[in-house]
Amino acid sequence: MEAHIVEWLNLLVRWIHFIVGVAWIGASFYFNWLENHLNRQAPQEKGIDGNLWAVHGGGFYHLKKFTNGPEKLPEVLHWFKWEAYMTWVSGMTLLIIVYYYNATAMMIDPSVYDLTPTMAIIIGVASGVFSWFVYDLLCKTLKSKPLLLGVIVFIYLAVLAYLLTQFLSPRAAYIHVGAAIGTIMAGNVFFVIIPAQKELVKALSEDRIPDASYGENGLLRSRHNNYLTLPVLFIMISNHFPTTYGNQYNWLVLIAVSAVGILARHYFNIRHISKAVWMLPTALFGFIMIVMATMPAKQEALEASDKVTTAQVLPIFEQRCFSCHSSKPTQPGFVTPPAGLAYDKEGVLENNADKINAQVMQKIMPLGNLTKMTDEEREKVSRWYRSLGQ
Ligand code: HEC
Repeated sequence: MEAHIVEWLNLLVRWIHFIVGVAWIGASFYFNWLENHLNRQAPQEKGIDGNLWAVHGGGFYHLKKFTNGPEKLPEVLHWFKWEAYMTWVSGMTLLIIVYYYNATAMMIDPSVYDLTPTMAIIIGVASGVFSWFVYDLLCKTLKSKPLLLGVIVFIYLAVLAYLLTQFLSPRAAYIHVGAAIGTIMAGNVFFVIIPAQKELVKALSEDRIPDASYGENGLLRSRHNNYLTLPVLFIMISNHFPTTYGNQYNWLVLIAVSAVGILARHYFNIRHISKAVWMLPTALFGFIMIVMATMPAKQEALEASDKVTTAQVLPIFEQRCFSCHSSKPTQPGFVTPPAGLAYDKEGVLENNADKINAQVMQKIMPLGNLTKMTDEEREKVSRWYRSLGQ
């Protein structure tokens, strides 16, 4: 009953997180695009910096950007902030439901580090809070050197990814780097970007020149958010791709894919001012290099005497996997077999042998090694897998 409710809650919150996340990133991409495509050619109306015509959903739209703002504040002014706040709130809720509620299985991997669930949760929560303070301090001290700042923030995230993968389970480490970046992005909106816009509006209503420092900080932070979108989205989906977090150098994979994402984003940011055509192919090349570098080593052919049949490995699966992966799981917290894989059903083991082999050899399964699978057993599963193909 409880597990059933948690499963639906997980689905509901994930759904909401996805929807508000799309709205946030979508609005942010849209305004970025708008800024880059404004027609700034003269003649413009007085006080107008640029304008843009668009057709969408059966109507024509004509937008204008003011050089300094309108003379009088409009009655209704739309803000874009709840998407960001709700993405953060739903993301944190999801972290609690999926990871903290089930910390033993989801946060801890004894082969990485033997933590208690409480310690794992503390590390998880602290990594997000700490990252915001480090990032915010860096921005305040280095704001006159934006390039250096960008490089140092990137290095900080690499160190964070490295450290988290030394303590948490690989998947939890990944998601917490994502959560730290998400916290930085939402913090930027809440603490810097929205206050900058409030200052703009306040100055206008008081008929004075706005304090320029607000605007400068807001611009810097929204630029950071823009570059962080691709890495953060990669990290969110990578949780369903064990080749990424399951790699021996998983933190490097995370950082390398993030760098590729940032380069791709950079291309779209500058392509209207400079034709840096090399950027996208370079990003693609970098991506292919990551695919090559993470290629599993080729397995040697098995001697006939080393071959293992399904009947011979079945007891291992029964002992180490069936508590979760069977038609009726006995592991508390599981109502249905995870990923739909019930190994007690005819043919399911053989049909999923490649996935099973990858999960077992990368030590991702059994989850949190709750069922204490030994290295000899993993080796035997690997031989079973290779025997199938021969
Ligand atoms: C404590 C519960 C638990 C145990 C024990 C367990 N698993 Fe899993 N397994 C999971 C969960 C949860 C998922 C879903 C992960 C996700 O959401 O991507 C999963 C997913 C998988 C997947 C699918 C991954 C994918 O990308 O589609 C495979 C394969 C797998 N497990 C193999 C195994 C094998 C083999 C064993 C035994 C050696 C095992 N598992 C033991 C909980 C468990």
